[in-house]
Amino acid sequence: MIRLTRPSLGDEELHELERVLASGQLVQGPAVAAFETALAEALRVSPASVVACSTGTTALQLALAALSVGPGDEVVLPDFVFPSVASAVLYTGATPVVCDVDPESFNVDEGTVRAAMTERTRAVIAVHQFGVPCDVESLMNALPCPVIEDAACALGTRGATGFAGTQTGLGCFSFHPRKIITTGEGGAVIARDPAHATRLRHLRQHGMRFGTAGVDFPEVGYAARMSELHAAVGLAQMRKLDAIIAGRARAAAAYRVRLSRIDAVRTTRWTWHPDRVYQGLVVLLDAALDRTRVISGLRERGVESTIGTYAIHAQAGFQSVVRVSPGGLRGSRYAADHCLTLPLRPDMTDDDIDQVCAALGSVIPHAGASA
Ligand SMILES: Cc1ncc(COP(=O)(O)O)c(C=O)c1O
Repeated sequence: MIRLTRPSLGDEELHELERVLASGQLVQGPAVAAFETALAEALRVSPASVVACSTGTTALQLALAALSVGPGDEVVLPDFVFPSVASAVLYTGATPVVCDVDPESFNVDEGTVRAAMTERTRAVIAVHQFGVPCDVESLMNALPCPVIEDAACALGTRGATGFAGTQTGLGCFSFHPRKIITTGEGGAVIARDPAHATRLRHLRQHGMRFGTAGVDFPEVGYAARMSELHAAVGLAQMRKLDAIIAGRARAAAAYRVRLSRIDAVRTTRWTWHPDRVYQGLVVLLDAALDRTRVISGLRERGVESTIGTYAIHAQAGFQSVVRVSPGGLRGSRYAADHCLTLPLRPDMTDDDIDQVCAALGSVIPHAGASA
């Protein structure tokens, strides 16, 4: 079976893990600090602005906390995204308002965000979906509220004023195994304002503040630390970051030639955008095809694939707790119904990609719309 993805793990990660285990220090030690510094160097930001934490979802929760978002507030986010982005907003007591995305880039733009805004909008979460750069510069210039960048899938994506996650003052990353690099579970906030960064360091650790007179708890925080073990894996991963990004881009380029020969598979200029990284290779299937049959047909031929991501408004658990933008969700519905994610790993061979594309080519003539 050609799996959707597999993290690039090896002796380097084992060695770093052994070092942490031998030290006996499993939380808030040198590995987390070193991981934060490595991330800062890669993103060309100050190490003081990087706050590692337990997951990408807690990173968003911390970023919202930095802005003191709370009950009575609204936060605009894309409808077509992993639903925990809305969960992070709900945890603050605020209301998530889901807005439409461009069905080609899968990202929000000024028009889709504005259609969702009200006088209660306190922040916008702009996602660089699948690694495709979202134009956060335009959003920042046009909108009267702060923009949080969700770069969970976009470590290394380049934007107009810097790397994704560093452009708006508050950016979030995830290091889940399906992301560009992994720590097992993990996340980070990039907080450019030193006051935000200091507060988030307290908040990630139960609100604890360490002073000369001892520890106090100036506000209620979260159990949101990254452990030394997770950071150890991340440190080894960061040393391979350039190779991982290049390997993913190479695999995408190999797909490009082969997919161009399959009419029912559509890609856009964003699929091949030079500034992006590839969290996954997400294509659009012809609207007449039954995607479920494509996915099961691929599985029968030894290829794992899946949908792009979810439309939050369509998930039962979210329907009564999110507000839908009056601008509608046409692009999001389209993307949610027709996207297909194909296997992508930095170490994929051309033979693997030939096999995926041959399977796709053979399954599509048999995967017409169901009656
Ligand atoms: C865009 C986006 N933001 C946030 C998250 C949440 O990250 P985590 O799973 O690390 O909590 C995900 C996870 O898939 C995601 O795709």
